[in-house]
Amino acid sequence: MDLIINLVYIVAAISFVVGLKMMSKPSAARLGNFISALGMLSAVVVTLFSKGIVDYQWIALGLLIGTVIGIFAARLVAMTKMPEMVALFNGFGGIASLLVGWAVFHYSLGAGAQSLDSLQTVTIVLSVIIGGVTFTGSLVAFLKLSEIIGGSPVLFPGQHIVNGLLLAGMAGSGVWFGLEIAGMIPLVFALPAGYVPFLTVVLLSFIYGVLFVIPIGGADMPVVISLLNSFSGLAACAAGFVIQNNILIVSGALVGASGIILTNIMCKAMNRSISNVLFSGFGSSSVAHGKAAEGTVQPISVEDAYLILEAAGSVVFVPGYGLAVAQAQHVTRELGELLEQNGADVSYAIHPVAGRMPGHMNVLLAEANVPYDQLVEMEAINTQMPTVDVCIVVGANDVVNPAAHEDETSPIYGMPIINADQARTVFVLKRSMATGFAGITNPLFFRKNTRMLFGDAKATIQSLVSEFKGS
Ligand code: TAP
Repeated sequence: MDLIINLVYIVAAISFVVGLKMMSKPSAARLGNFISALGMLSAVVVTLFSKGIVDYQWIALGLLIGTVIGIFAARLVAMTKMPEMVALFNGFGGIASLLVGWAVFHYSLGAGAQSLDSLQTVTIVLSVIIGGVTFTGSLVAFLKLSEIIGGSPVLFPGQHIVNGLLLAGMAGSGVWFGLEIAGMIPLVFALPAGYVPFLTVVLLSFIYGVLFVIPIGGADMPVVISLLNSFSGLAACAAGFVIQNNILIVSGALVGASGIILTNIMCKAMNRSISNVLFSGFGSSSVAHGKAAEGTVQPISVEDAYLILEAAGSVVFVPGYGLAVAQAQHVTRELGELLEQNGADVSYAIHPVAGRMPGHMNVLLAEANVPYDQLVEMEAINTQMPTVDVCIVVGANDVVNPAAHEDETSPIYGMPIINADQARTVFVLKRSMATGFAGITNPLFFRKNTRMLFGDAKATIQSLVSEFKGS
């Protein structure tokens, strides 16, 4: 049976890698997701036949509870709340790994049980440290993102020293744990060998998770979530070593690696380093907010905007977080089709960090069946932008902020942006002059070639559609 289980594990591992690769292309992403899910299902099913399982009752109960939560979460959570859900799921992953480590340690204390070998001892400590940090760190990220607690960075004097001491405390308690269960040092408390240092590691990891995330501003939470996702993978990988389960090791390592790659991609897209994201307190009042914008804001009516669009030969939509808030993806596709019927070239420019999670805009536009070949990446669209007649910015702000090129005092200086300002005419669809996620003014809104179409993006685009349809 072990041979069959391991063969299925290999096929499942291959399906994860193939699925991940396919997810990098919008046209193949759904199939890639399905292939990986199938691989995971087969891995779970064969695991149920492994000889280590002595009781199916608890597994069935866990499966039932998990399935119900999963179905409700997937059906009820709004697209705009996805990052919060991912944060929570990372936290669940972290605590699950911690509990696996705890369970194996606990059962090793039972009468007749085998004592832990050194690999298990080390990996139990790792699964607890990484799992615990991931758990509380993800909870804080969730609370910040859902605005249950304030999003601004919490900074206090000596923060790095406290964090350093906590790290040293976790490492020290880990060593204490190992020495106690190996019987190399006497017990300090009247608890089974290893229990006091073990609980100390758990407690310190929980505290460290909170202190790790609170100094990071809400604007950087998506990056933190991706990093915590990577941590949850590493915790699962460590748990895989604890229970010597090959597929847990492989899938944990894949999540760990892909999470860190994604974190890196996001940092690059914002022209920031990971240490800047983690330690700079971006978004706090002490961080620069850039120069004040010069020029006049020029609002435009839907009727006048329609006349300009009617004459346009090329139109580029730049979707941002506001598209998700307004749920304007379907009506945007409808307007795109009407523009095409009117003879315009239509494309959608996708910034890698538009919205609040990786691939946010791709997912929304795919949901509205926007043809994949109309999605253009930032670098490609920027070369064409000076020849574009109208650039329609739909609820985007930071990702089209020219301060990133022009204002050295701006906190987003150096961040690659979509050069919407270079189009002949720019329409900006938003409800007010409010700032975007980074909390900074956008000089694009004051440019001579910019017209502001104030209002909810869905309602505005719906009105433009009605103008095109003559109703
Ligand atoms: P933002 O800069 O956050 O701007 C969103 C805009 O949408 C706001 O200006 C808001 O203005 C507008 N809006 C909100 N609701 C609207 C509605 N119903 N109708 C019309 N407009 C609406 O978004 P962005 O340009 O997509 O940039 C993303 C930000 O998130 C960047 O700062 C990026 O660095 C950060 N970030 C993203 C990620 C990922 S992975 N996506 C990761 C890390 C950081 P009004 O309130 O005036 O309407």
